[in-house]
Amino acid sequence: MRAIFVIGKGGVGKTTCAAAMAVSLSKRLRTLVVSLDPAHNLGDVLGTQLSGSAREIAGGLSAIEVDMEAAIKDYLEESARKLKDMYGYLKVINIEGYLDTIRLSPGIEEYATLEAIEAILSANEGQRDLIVFDTPPTGLTLRVLALPKVSLIWGERLVRLRREILRKRSAIQKIQGERKFMLDGKEYTLTTTEEGDGVIQELLDYMKRVEKVNELQTDPKRSVVIPVMNPDRLSLFETRRAFDTLDKLSMPIGALVVNKFSGKKEETNLIARAEAELHRPARKIPLLEREPVGVDALEEISGCLDLEEWLPRG
Ligand SMILES: Nc1ncnc2c1ncn2[C@@H]1O[C@H](COP(=O)(O)OP(=O)(O)OP(=O)(O)O)[C@@H](O)[C@H]1O
Ligand SMILES: [Mg+2]
Repeated sequence: MRAIFVIGKGGVGKTTCAAAMAVSLSKRLRTLVVSLDPAHNLGDVLGTQLSGSAREIAGGLSAIEVDMEAAIKDYLEESARKLKDMYGYLKVINIEGYLDTIRLSPGIEEYATLEAIEAILSANEGQRDLIVFDTPPTGLTLRVLALPKVSLIWGERLVRLRREILRKRSAIQKIQGERKFMLDGKEYTLTTTEEGDGVIQELLDYMKRVEKVNELQTDPKRSVVIPVMNPDRLSLFETRRAFDTLDKLSMPIGALVVNKFSGKKEETNLIARAEAELHRPARKIPLLEREPVGVDALEEISGCLDLEEWLPRG
């Protein structure tokens, strides 16, 4: 299974390009196009109604608009459940109060989006050949794409710390014998083994899932990021910053798509500058008189993209 992440500044035409690529590639690959933008308009662009479950649009093409509000709620509830399971005996931690606080903390949307990506990838393994992700504007998307790497760094440290705790517990147990205590009529034993420790098992499981996303994201045979920009300076500046971040994350970047090109001299100059600075030829999509909505209009757009040239080769 391969993945394309379509990224770019607000309003440049990410959804339109993601939909156009999916329409075209679905003729030979079983394709799912996924909107991760909380303000969905993938359905509008495809000219159909979409929801949080995949809907088949044509032969090899399905589409889904992930319900991001629900994804955030699920993420928090799942975290709460795990905390209660593992730390229920620690009455000093007010889990409900803690959750009310993390609901408002920065990063929750990014973690929930990463979980949504991971869930889509595992649910479609073996079922589809290609997943095209239509993403929210650049800032949030880059933070989401950076998360697997960041999470693996802190995950490794937490695992090390937890192993140390288990080792210390084990040393104490050797001297004092097994430690048991009662709470609300329930007996608890503090585990000293990795197999018996819910915390370390959860950490290892989390890292395994994140590692899978990280492997996909950084493998040029399986995934590619397609930056979309408009032929204006602010769009170029933002794209340049995105390239820097993607390089740091070792993520493969495919063709540069310049959408809404009207043929003006200054636009032509700006595209030449973008090609030189970003070291790749631009695929130009003309500014159309009518908004490209529906499968036929999208076919016209995908015709400008030379899709086969930069599609990750499996
Ligand atoms: N080549 C084009 N010619 C004319 N209109 C276009 C073209 N490409 C996109 N549009 C129009 O521009 C608007 C923005 O496009 P789109 O929704 O695809 O952008 P986006 O980058 O996904 O935006 P957002 O950041 O809001 O998600 C839409 O009205 C779309 O129909
Ligand atoms: Mg969009």
